[in-house]
Amino acid sequence: MPNAQCPIPHSQKMRSYSLIAPAKINLYLEIIGARLDGYHELAMILQSIGLADEIDVRSISTDTIRVYCNHPQVPTDKSNLAYQAAELMVRQFPEAFAKYGGVEITINKQIPVAAGLAGGSTNAAAVLVGIDLLWKLGLTQSELEELGGTLGSDVPFCVAGGTAIATGRGEQLSPLPSLDSIYIVLAKYRSLEVSTAWAYKTYRQQFGHSYIRDSDNLTARANAVHSGVIVKAVLDKDAREIARKLHNDLERVVLPDYPQVLQLREVFANQEGVLGTMMSGSGPTVFALFESQQQAEQVKLQVRKAILDEDLELFVTRTITHGIQVASSI
Ligand code: C5P
Repeated sequence: MPNAQCPIPHSQKMRSYSLIAPAKINLYLEIIGARLDGYHELAMILQSIGLADEIDVRSISTDTIRVYCNHPQVPTDKSNLAYQAAELMVRQFPEAFAKYGGVEITINKQIPVAAGLAGGSTNAAAVLVGIDLLWKLGLTQSELEELGGTLGSDVPFCVAGGTAIATGRGEQLSPLPSLDSIYIVLAKYRSLEVSTAWAYKTYRQQFGHSYIRDSDNLTARANAVHSGVIVKAVLDKDAREIARKLHNDLERVVLPDYPQVLQLREVFANQEGVLGTMMSGSGPTVFALFESQQQAEQVKLQVRKAILDEDLELFVTRTITHGIQVASSI
Protein backbone atom coordinates (compact mmCIF):
# COMPACT_ATOMS: atom_id res chain seq x y z
CA MET A 1 0.00 0.00 0.00
CA PRO A 2 1.16 3.57 -0.54
CA ASN A 3 3.00 4.95 2.46
CA ALA A 4 1.22 7.52 4.57
CA GLN A 5 3.20 10.49 5.87
CA CYS A 6 0.68 10.75 8.69
CA PRO A 7 -1.71 8.12 10.06
CA ILE A 8 -5.10 8.03 8.33
CA PRO A 9 -7.90 8.31 10.88
CA HIS A 10 -10.78 6.05 9.88
CA SER A 11 -13.61 8.45 10.56
CA GLN A 12 -16.85 8.52 8.60
CA LYS A 13 -16.37 12.29 8.32
CA MET A 14 -13.24 11.98 6.16
CA ARG A 15 -14.20 13.96 3.04
CA SER A 16 -10.92 15.07 1.58
CA TYR A 17 -7.39 13.78 1.03
CA SER A 18 -4.37 15.71 -0.08
CA LEU A 19 -1.87 13.51 -1.91
CA ILE A 20 1.70 13.94 -3.08
CA ALA A 21 2.16 12.62 -6.63
CA PRO A 22 5.87 12.35 -7.61
CA ALA A 23 7.24 12.41 -11.14
CA LYS A 24 9.53 9.68 -12.51
CA ILE A 25 12.57 9.43 -14.72
CA ASN A 26 13.70 6.45 -16.81
CA LEU A 27 17.18 5.28 -15.87
CA TYR A 28 16.87 2.68 -18.62
CA LEU A 29 14.45 2.24 -21.53
CA GLU A 30 14.94 -0.54 -24.05
CA ILE A 31 12.42 -1.25 -26.81
CA ILE A 32 12.38 -4.98 -27.37
CA GLY A 33 9.55 -5.61 -29.81
CA ALA A 34 6.04 -4.88 -30.99
CA ARG A 35 2.96 -6.22 -29.23
CA LEU A 36 -0.25 -7.44 -30.77
CA ASP A 37 -2.15 -4.67 -28.94
CA GLY A 38 -0.17 -2.04 -30.89
CA TYR A 39 2.07 -1.14 -27.95
CA HIS A 40 5.73 -1.98 -27.52
CA GLU A 41 7.36 -4.61 -25.37
CA LEU A 42 9.74 -2.70 -23.10
CA ALA A 43 12.42 -3.28 -20.49
CA MET A 44 12.80 -0.23 -18.25
CA ILE A 45 14.12 0.94 -14.92
CA LEU A 46 11.84 3.60 -13.47
CA GLN A 47 12.79 5.94 -10.65
CA SER A 48 10.55 8.27 -8.58
CA ILE A 49 11.88 11.78 -8.03
CA GLY A 50 11.13 14.53 -5.53
CA LEU A 51 9.47 16.84 -8.05
CA ALA A 52 5.77 16.27 -7.38
CA ASP A 53 2.24 17.55 -7.94
CA GLU A 54 -0.23 17.94 -5.09
CA ILE A 55 -3.63 16.39 -5.70
CA ASP A 56 -6.66 17.08 -3.51
CA VAL A 57 -9.47 14.54 -3.84
CA ARG A 58 -12.74 15.56 -2.17
CA SER A 59 -16.22 14.05 -1.92
CA ILE A 60 -18.98 16.34 -3.15
CA SER A 61 -22.73 16.03 -2.78
CA THR A 62 -23.49 16.07 -6.53
CA ASP A 63 -22.90 12.87 -8.54
CA THR A 64 -20.33 14.44 -10.84
CA ILE A 65 -16.57 14.43 -11.41
CA ARG A 66 -14.90 17.84 -11.44
CA VAL A 67 -11.27 18.60 -12.17
CA TYR A 68 -9.50 21.89 -11.43
CA CYS A 69 -5.89 22.68 -12.25
CA ASN A 70 -3.64 25.71 -11.72
CA HIS A 71 -1.82 25.03 -15.02
CA PRO A 72 -3.47 26.55 -18.12
CA GLN A 73 -2.20 23.79 -20.44
CA VAL A 74 -3.78 20.98 -18.44
CA PRO A 75 -7.28 20.05 -19.64
CA THR A 76 -9.96 19.61 -16.97
CA ASP A 77 -12.32 17.53 -19.11
CA LYS A 78 -12.44 13.81 -19.87
CA SER A 79 -9.15 13.98 -21.76
CA ASN A 80 -7.34 14.44 -18.41
CA LEU A 81 -6.04 11.09 -17.13
CA ALA A 82 -7.00 12.11 -13.57
CA TYR A 83 -10.60 12.54 -14.75
CA GLN A 84 -10.44 9.14 -16.44
CA ALA A 85 -9.13 7.59 -13.20
CA ALA A 86 -12.18 8.93 -11.32
CA GLU A 87 -14.51 7.68 -14.07
CA LEU A 88 -12.90 4.25 -13.84
CA MET A 89 -13.51 4.13 -10.07
CA VAL A 90 -17.16 5.18 -10.60
CA ARG A 91 -17.58 2.36 -13.15
CA GLN A 92 -15.83 -0.21 -10.98
CA PHE A 93 -17.48 0.70 -7.68
CA PRO A 94 -21.01 2.02 -8.43
CA GLU A 95 -22.27 1.26 -4.91
CA ALA A 96 -19.52 3.30 -3.27
CA PHE A 97 -20.21 6.11 -5.76
CA ALA A 98 -23.92 6.02 -4.83
CA LYS A 99 -23.01 6.08 -1.13
CA TYR A 100 -20.29 8.76 -1.11
CA GLY A 101 -21.31 10.94 -4.08
CA GLY A 102 -19.14 12.65 -6.68
CA VAL A 103 -15.49 13.63 -6.57
CA GLU A 104 -13.73 16.96 -6.94
CA ILE A 105 -10.08 16.77 -7.96
CA THR A 106 -7.76 19.76 -7.63
CA ILE A 107 -4.34 19.47 -9.25
CA ASN A 108 -1.57 21.76 -8.12
CA LYS A 109 0.85 21.22 -11.01
CA GLN A 110 4.57 21.45 -10.41
CA ILE A 111 5.68 18.72 -12.86
CA PRO A 112 6.17 20.06 -16.41
CA VAL A 113 3.47 18.78 -18.76
CA ALA A 114 4.11 16.47 -21.75
CA ALA A 115 7.65 16.13 -20.48
CA GLY A 116 8.41 12.39 -20.28
CA LEU A 117 8.13 12.59 -16.48
CA ALA A 118 4.79 10.74 -16.08
CA GLY A 119 3.03 13.87 -14.81
CA GLY A 120 -0.40 12.78 -16.07
CA SER A 121 0.15 9.18 -14.96
CA THR A 122 1.10 10.13 -11.41
CA ASN A 123 -1.99 12.36 -11.14
CA ALA A 124 -4.16 9.41 -12.22
CA ALA A 125 -2.43 7.15 -9.67
CA ALA A 126 -3.11 9.73 -6.94
CA VAL A 127 -6.79 9.84 -7.87
CA LEU A 128 -7.04 6.03 -7.64
CA VAL A 129 -5.38 6.07 -4.20
CA GLY A 130 -7.44 9.08 -3.05
CA ILE A 131 -10.79 7.59 -4.08
CA ASP A 132 -9.83 4.24 -2.55
CA LEU A 133 -9.35 6.10 0.76
CA LEU A 134 -12.42 8.36 0.39
CA TRP A 135 -14.69 5.41 -0.37
CA LYS A 136 -12.97 3.10 2.18
CA LEU A 137 -12.53 0.41 -0.48
CA GLY A 138 -9.39 -1.09 1.06
CA LEU A 139 -7.84 -1.95 -2.32
CA THR A 140 -4.42 -3.60 -2.27
CA GLN A 141 -1.40 -2.12 -4.03
CA SER A 142 -1.66 -4.72 -6.79
CA GLU A 143 -5.39 -4.00 -7.27
CA LEU A 144 -4.63 -0.29 -7.60
CA GLU A 145 -1.81 -1.08 -10.06
CA GLU A 146 -4.10 -3.29 -12.12
CA LEU A 147 -6.71 -0.52 -12.34
CA GLY A 148 -3.91 1.92 -13.22
CA GLY A 149 -2.71 -0.30 -16.06
CA THR A 150 -6.02 0.21 -17.87
CA LEU A 151 -5.39 3.99 -17.87
CA GLY A 152 -1.78 4.17 -19.06
CA SER A 153 1.47 2.23 -19.09
CA ASP A 154 3.21 4.34 -16.41
CA VAL A 155 0.27 4.56 -13.97
CA PRO A 156 0.96 1.24 -12.15
CA PHE A 157 4.54 2.28 -11.34
CA CYS A 158 3.39 5.66 -10.03
CA VAL A 159 1.20 4.03 -7.33
CA ALA A 160 4.05 2.69 -5.15
CA GLY A 161 6.97 4.35 -6.98
CA GLY A 162 10.52 4.05 -5.69
CA THR A 163 12.84 2.16 -8.01
CA ALA A 164 11.54 -0.69 -10.18
CA ILE A 165 12.13 -2.76 -13.28
CA ALA A 166 9.13 -2.42 -15.61
CA THR A 167 8.51 -4.85 -18.46
CA GLY A 168 5.60 -5.71 -20.76
CA ARG A 169 3.92 -2.44 -21.72
CA GLY A 170 5.61 -0.97 -18.65
CA GLU A 171 2.98 -2.26 -16.26
CA GLN A 172 4.77 -5.43 -15.05
CA LEU A 173 6.77 -4.27 -12.08
CA SER A 174 9.61 -5.79 -10.06
CA PRO A 175 10.64 -3.50 -7.20
CA LEU A 176 14.34 -2.82 -6.70
CA PRO A 177 15.98 -1.64 -3.47
CA SER A 178 15.36 2.07 -3.04
CA LEU A 179 17.84 4.56 -4.43
CA ASP A 180 17.86 7.47 -2.07
CA SER A 181 19.53 10.83 -2.64
CA ILE A 182 21.09 10.73 -6.04
CA TYR A 183 20.73 14.38 -7.01
CA ILE A 184 19.19 15.38 -10.31
CA VAL A 185 18.91 18.43 -12.53
CA LEU A 186 15.98 18.35 -14.95
CA ALA A 187 15.95 20.58 -18.01
CA LYS A 188 12.95 21.17 -20.24
CA TYR A 189 11.96 23.85 -22.71
CA ARG A 190 8.55 25.01 -21.50
CA SER A 191 7.00 25.26 -24.96
CA LEU A 192 8.57 22.08 -26.36
CA GLU A 193 6.47 18.92 -26.31
CA VAL A 194 7.12 15.46 -27.77
CA SER A 195 4.19 13.13 -28.39
CA THR A 196 4.87 9.74 -26.85
CA ALA A 197 2.78 8.05 -29.55
CA TRP A 198 4.87 9.82 -32.25
CA ALA A 199 8.15 8.75 -30.65
CA TYR A 200 7.16 5.06 -30.52
CA LYS A 201 5.62 5.13 -34.00
CA THR A 202 8.74 6.71 -35.48
CA TYR A 203 10.95 4.22 -33.66
CA ARG A 204 8.90 1.37 -35.11
CA GLN A 205 9.21 2.83 -38.64
CA GLN A 206 12.96 3.24 -38.35
CA PHE A 207 14.02 0.29 -36.22
CA GLY A 208 11.09 -2.14 -36.35
CA HIS A 209 13.12 -4.44 -38.60
CA SER A 210 15.39 -5.24 -35.64
CA TYR A 211 12.53 -6.11 -33.24
CA ILE A 212 12.51 -9.53 -31.65
CA ARG A 213 9.47 -11.35 -33.04
CA ASP A 214 9.62 -14.74 -31.44
CA SER A 215 7.74 -14.73 -28.10
CA ASP A 216 10.27 -16.97 -26.26
CA ASN A 217 13.11 -14.65 -27.24
CA LEU A 218 11.02 -11.63 -26.24
CA THR A 219 10.56 -13.05 -22.76
CA ALA A 220 14.25 -13.99 -22.52
CA ARG A 221 15.30 -10.46 -23.50
CA ALA A 222 12.88 -8.87 -21.03
CA ASN A 223 14.18 -11.18 -18.30
CA ALA A 224 17.78 -10.33 -19.20
CA VAL A 225 17.33 -6.81 -17.84
CA HIS A 226 17.00 -8.30 -14.34
CA SER A 227 20.61 -9.48 -14.51
CA GLY A 228 21.88 -6.55 -16.57
CA VAL A 229 24.71 -4.21 -15.60
CA ILE A 230 22.51 -1.27 -14.65
CA VAL A 231 20.38 -3.39 -12.31
CA LYS A 232 23.60 -4.59 -10.68
CA ALA A 233 24.65 -0.94 -10.26
CA VAL A 234 21.25 -0.16 -8.66
CA LEU A 235 21.61 -3.15 -6.31
CA ASP A 236 25.10 -1.89 -5.41
CA LYS A 237 23.68 1.66 -4.97
CA ASP A 238 26.58 2.79 -7.15
CA ALA A 239 25.51 6.19 -8.51
CA ARG A 240 28.56 6.54 -10.77
CA GLU A 241 28.00 3.17 -12.41
CA ILE A 242 24.23 3.81 -12.77
CA ALA A 243 25.06 7.09 -14.48
CA ARG A 244 27.52 5.34 -16.84
CA LYS A 245 24.89 2.79 -17.86
CA LEU A 246 21.94 5.16 -18.46
CA HIS A 247 20.18 4.21 -21.69
CA ASN A 248 17.10 5.27 -23.63
CA ASP A 249 16.31 3.82 -27.08
CA LEU A 250 13.87 6.66 -27.79
CA GLU A 251 16.80 9.09 -27.98
CA ARG A 252 17.52 7.52 -31.37
CA VAL A 253 14.40 9.14 -32.82
CA VAL A 254 13.90 12.19 -30.60
CA LEU A 255 17.44 13.67 -30.66
CA PRO A 256 17.70 13.93 -34.47
CA ASP A 257 14.30 15.65 -34.73
CA TYR A 258 14.59 17.90 -31.67
CA PRO A 259 17.92 19.79 -31.74
CA GLN A 260 17.05 21.55 -28.46
CA VAL A 261 16.98 18.20 -26.66
CA LEU A 262 20.32 17.25 -28.20
CA GLN A 263 21.73 20.61 -27.13
CA LEU A 264 20.64 20.02 -23.50
CA ARG A 265 22.33 16.60 -23.57
CA GLU A 266 25.54 18.17 -24.86
CA VAL A 267 25.53 21.10 -22.45
CA PHE A 268 25.01 18.74 -19.48
CA ALA A 269 27.71 16.36 -20.72
CA ASN A 270 30.26 19.21 -20.68
CA GLN A 271 29.63 20.26 -17.07
CA GLU A 272 31.88 19.25 -14.21
CA GLY A 273 30.25 17.01 -11.61
CA VAL A 274 27.73 15.44 -14.01
CA LEU A 275 27.84 11.67 -13.50
CA GLY A 276 25.66 10.99 -16.53
CA THR A 277 22.89 12.54 -18.62
CA MET A 278 19.91 11.13 -20.56
CA MET A 279 16.50 12.02 -21.96
CA SER A 280 13.62 10.78 -19.79
CA GLY A 281 10.91 8.62 -21.42
CA SER A 282 9.88 10.04 -24.79
CA GLY A 283 11.29 13.43 -23.77
CA PRO A 284 11.76 16.27 -24.15
CA THR A 285 13.06 16.49 -20.55
CA VAL A 286 16.77 15.78 -20.16
CA PHE A 287 18.17 14.92 -16.74
CA ALA A 288 21.66 14.78 -15.26
CA LEU A 289 22.74 12.85 -12.14
CA PHE A 290 24.99 14.09 -9.33
CA GLU A 291 26.50 12.86 -6.10
CA SER A 292 25.69 16.03 -4.16
CA GLN A 293 23.00 18.69 -4.07
CA GLN A 294 25.69 21.37 -4.18
CA GLN A 295 27.04 20.02 -7.50
CA ALA A 296 23.49 19.86 -8.89
CA GLU A 297 22.77 23.48 -7.87
CA GLN A 298 26.09 24.57 -9.37
CA VAL A 299 25.40 22.90 -12.72
CA LYS A 300 21.87 24.32 -12.80
CA LEU A 301 23.47 27.80 -12.62
CA GLN A 302 26.04 26.90 -15.29
CA VAL A 303 23.37 25.63 -17.68
CA ARG A 304 21.31 28.77 -17.05
CA LYS A 305 24.37 30.82 -18.06
CA ALA A 306 25.16 28.63 -21.07
CA ILE A 307 21.62 28.75 -22.50
CA LEU A 308 20.14 32.23 -22.26
CA ASP A 309 16.57 31.27 -23.06
CA GLU A 310 13.70 32.07 -20.72
CA ASP A 311 11.75 29.16 -22.16
CA LEU A 312 14.17 26.76 -20.47
CA GLU A 313 12.97 25.40 -17.13
CA LEU A 314 15.51 23.87 -14.72
CA PHE A 315 14.77 21.96 -11.53
CA VAL A 316 17.01 20.45 -8.87
CA THR A 317 15.54 17.35 -7.28
CA ARG A 318 16.63 13.90 -6.12
CA THR A 319 15.68 10.26 -6.24
CA ILE A 320 13.03 9.29 -3.68
CA THR A 321 11.81 5.98 -2.33
CA HIS A 322 8.04 6.24 -2.69
CA GLY A 323 5.12 6.88 -5.03
CA ILE A 324 1.78 8.35 -3.97
CA GLN A 325 1.69 9.55 -0.36
CA VAL A 326 -1.04 11.04 1.79
CA ALA A 327 0.03 14.51 2.94
CA SER A 328 -3.11 15.34 4.96
CA SER A 329 -6.77 14.51 5.32
CA ILE A 330 -9.80 16.38 6.62
O1 C5P B 1 0.20 3.92 -22.20
P1 C5P B 1 0.32 5.36 -22.60
O2 C5P B 1 -1.01 5.98 -22.89
O3 C5P B 1 1.13 6.16 -21.64
O4 C5P B 1 1.12 5.35 -23.96
C1 C5P B 1 1.15 6.47 -24.82
C2 C5P B 1 1.52 6.00 -26.21
O5 C5P B 1 2.86 5.54 -26.22
C3 C5P B 1 0.68 4.85 -26.72
O6 C5P B 1 -0.43 5.31 -27.41
C4 C5P B 1 1.64 4.13 -27.66
O7 C5P B 1 1.64 4.76 -28.90
C5 C5P B 1 3.00 4.38 -27.04
N1 C5P B 1 3.49 3.25 -26.21
C6 C5P B 1 3.93 2.09 -26.84
N2 C5P B 1 4.38 1.05 -26.06
C7 C5P B 1 4.40 1.14 -24.72
C8 C5P B 1 3.96 2.31 -24.07
C9 C5P B 1 3.51 3.35 -24.85
O8 C5P B 1 3.94 1.98 -28.06
N3 C5P B 1 4.83 0.10 -24.01
